[in-house]
Amino acid sequence: MSVSLGEGRTPLLAAPRLSGRFGVEVWLKWEAANPTGSFKDRGMAVAVARAVERGAPGVVCASTGNTAASAAAYAARAGIEAAIVVPEKAVAGPKLAQVRAAGARIVAVPGTFADAYDLALELARREGYVGVNSTNEDRIEGQKSAAAEIVEELGGLPDAVLLPYGGGGNTKAYARGFAEVAGRLPRLHPTQAERRADTFASAIRIVEPIHRAAVEDAVGRSAGAVVTVSERELEEAWRAVGREEGLFCEPASAAGVAALARGAAARGERVVCVLTGHGLKDPGRVAA
Ligand code: F0G
Repeated sequence: MSVSLGEGRTPLLAAPRLSGRFGVEVWLKWEAANPTGSFKDRGMAVAVARAVERGAPGVVCASTGNTAASAAAYAARAGIEAAIVVPEKAVAGPKLAQVRAAGARIVAVPGTFADAYDLALELARREGYVGVNSTNEDRIEGQKSAAAEIVEELGGLPDAVLLPYGGGGNTKAYARGFAEVAGRLPRLHPTQAERRADTFASAIRIVEPIHRAAVEDAVGRSAGAVVTVSERELEEAWRAVGREEGLFCEPASAAGVAALARGAAARGERVVCVLTGHGLKDPGRVAA
C-alpha cells in the first residue's frame, strides 16, 4: 500500500548571502516544497499508508497546524477519515483552511497543545483511529528520508544541521536518518523559542517537547547543543531568509538560521538549515 502526493526530494539550496554574512557555507533544505507545504508530508505518507493497511477507518492528530494539514490531505488521498484536534485560536488560519479543504473534521479545544494531544489520544481509542502525531514511529521512519537526501546531495555529511525544535520528532528523525546512511551524526542544533508557550512562531508553540529525551540523546551523541532564541532573533532570521535568499518560509522555520546568527557554526563550516514550512501558512507579521 502506498499513499503519495509527491512528497520528499525537496531542493537543497546554496545560500550565498547568508554564507557571506556568517562566514559559513550555508545550505537551505527547502521543505516547504512538499505537497502541503511542510516537512510533515514525508512521515505522513508512511503513517497513513500503514493506517490503511491496518484497516483503520481514519487517523487523528493534535497539531499546531502543519501536522493537521498533512494528515487531512493524506487521509483524503487514501479515502479514510481524519479528525484534527487543535488548541483553540492558536493555529494560523491558512493551515485550518488546508484542513477544511481536505474535508477533515476539526475539533478545537480550549487550552494548549498538550490538552489537544490528550483529546487526540482519547479520540483514537474511542473511534479506532490511528494516531499520527510524531509518537507514531511510522512518522519518524518516513521523515528520516530528508537526512539521506542531504548526504546524497552534498556527497557526504555536513558539519552541522540546524533546525527548529518544537516537540523534537524531526530532530529524532534526522538523527536516525544520518546514523543509518552515514554511520555517524553531524552536529545537531535543534533550536527552540525561549518563549515556547506564546512564541509568534505558532508552529513551535509547544511547552513540553514530547521527544525531549531522544533529542538530548541525539544532541549529546552528535556533540551538538540545543539552542534557545528570543522572539527578536527568530523574527530577524525569518526576515533575513526572505530578503537575502528570496525564500518565504514560516517563522518557526527560520529557527535554524537564528541559531547560525548566534554562532552555532564556526567559520568555514558547511551547515544545513532546515526550512520546515512555507511562509504562506503563517503570514501574520508580513500580511497587510
Ligand atoms: N517547523 C514547523 C513548520 C512545524 O510545523 C513544526 C512542528 C516544527 C518545525 C517542529 O518540529 O515538533 O518535530 O520538533 N509542528 C507540529 C504540528 C507540532 O502540529 O504541525 P518538531
